[in-house]
Amino acid sequence: MSTLNSSSNQKTLADALTPRQIVEELDKYIIGQAEAKRSVAIALRNRARRQMLEDDMRDEVAPKNIIMIGTTGVGKTEIARRLARLVEAPFIKVEASKYTEVGYVGRDVESMIRDLADLAVNMVKSEQAEIVKEKALELTEERLLDFLIPPPRSKMSPDSAEKDAELTDEGEEGQISTEADPLALAMQQFDAAERTEISEQEQERYLRTREKFRQRLRDGKLEDKPIEINVSNRTVPFVEIFSPSGIEEMDINLKDMFGSMLPKQEKKRRVPISEARQIIAQEEAEKLIDMDNVISDAVARVENSGIVFLDEIDKIAGRESKAGPDVSREGVQRDILPIIEGSTVMTKHGMVRTDHILFIASGAFHVSKPSDLIPELQGRFPIRVELKSLNEADFKRILTEPKNALGKQYIAMLKTEDIDVTITGDAIDEIAALAFQVNESVEDIGARRLHTIMEKLFDELSFDAPDLAEKAITVDAAYVTGQLSEIVKDEDISKYIL
Ligand SMILES: Nc1ncnc2c1ncn2[C@@H]1O[C@H](COP(=O)(O)OP(=O)(O)OP(=O)(O)O)[C@@H](O)[C@H]1O
Ligand SMILES: [Mg+2]
Repeated sequence: MSTLNSSSNQKTLADALTPRQIVEELDKYIIGQAEAKRSVAIALRNRARRQMLEDDMRDEVAPKNIIMIGTTGVGKTEIARRLARLVEAPFIKVEASKYTEVGYVGRDVESMIRDLADLAVNMVKSEQAEIVKEKALELTEERLLDFLIPPPRSKMSPDSAEKDAELTDEGEEGQISTEADPLALAMQQFDAAERTEISEQEQERYLRTREKFRQRLRDGKLEDKPIEINVSNRTVPFVEIFSPSGIEEMDINLKDMFGSMLPKQEKKRRVPISEARQIIAQEEAEKLIDMDNVISDAVARVENSGIVFLDEIDKIAGRESKAGPDVSREGVQRDILPIIEGSTVMTKHGMVRTDHILFIASGAFHVSKPSDLIPELQGRFPIRVELKSLNEADFKRILTEPKNALGKQYIAMLKTEDIDVTITGDAIDEIAALAFQVNESVEDIGARRLHTIMEKLFDELSFDAPDLAEKAITVDAAYVTGQLSEIVKDEDISKYIL
């Protein structure tokens, strides 16, 4: 295996999934749409390939952005979402229609990159937190023990004398009963001991007590015991400053800048050990994580493997330049263009170059066509894939095959009420047929129709489940017809219900 780069987050090609494997993974969740799956798989593999190139060549290779064209509910978003999860890339889904031209009220286009950077930082940070978790918990245990039985060496300081007093108080309150508990008794004696020289014997006794407490802590016997800990909180002053382009830019942010400059304020709080452990573990983890590394890792990850899913791109297609106060669609396209062509966006984590971020756009393109986009934008989306409308046979498979298939979801939900539901094959046929029929007669909303139909179908069962005497329920074709056929037959009613 050849290493691509010293940075740990960049995978070797051998580690990356092959296009065929990517398609196989997507097949677990999305039925059909082979062409779209194939395109995204190639785009992804090309990124891995790009990473292997020599520096100067690598900079030349632009990502092959994709436009997915297809009516609503056929799996466009689903493909992109699954893809991002699969490759653990920073992924953000935005609605193109939410953005406006500079100078108009609305989100400025650069905010999508800022959001993506935030997301990547959180992603890397939680990965790091997972890595240091064990170490942080070890340190937390030691700190908790320090609170419970302050080390003898520090006994001279007034601070710990205070703590000792508290602990004894606790005993009297009965948190640790002195009579019943030889361990606590030993500790009290220990506390009462001379506070001057610490003899070796004492030291030894201290360590023994500490170990006993450690055991009790691990056995979960002290979870409810309250202790006083210092909680640091930074007070952030409420300053809001409005810039001409809106609050958006405050991302690069006064709050953050001030936040780290302000002195940390320590506040004492009395909390049970169970809660203290969480607070301390978080603190310890934060100390163990090098945030500078996290940020540079995150920025590199956004730049090299970030994915932006631009939904509803068709809504901003169009070249008419409207006179008047309206936001022009072309204007929005012109604003988005530099980000897609590659520019540098200032985020609170530093500069982010957008040259190699992969953009996947999607839209139904009912009214407009991809050719209605401005030419520069068209050029930046060289791959077009069409997703097919879903038919009855697809519906059958969608109901049963994917890992998260709707049928499986309803069965699992009702299982929590001890109801065993069986959905027969002919019931699936019937549901698929009805869904298709309603899509034809009312409006084609793709696989989303299955959601509305299933909800209606299970309406009665979902309500009655806790009260049912009969724990085994079979949903067959007759049941489906019984629940739904009246509604389906009447187009006016189904417009509202399904
Ligand atoms: N081919 C498919 N296989 C499995 N499930 C699907 C498929 N197509 C759609 N679905 C399901 O239908 C729902 C809607 O799909 P999705 O969000 O991908 O629609 P979309 O194509 O993005 O539509 P829109 O244009 O309205 O955004 C999701 O719950 C998804 O799981
Ligand atoms: Mg969508």
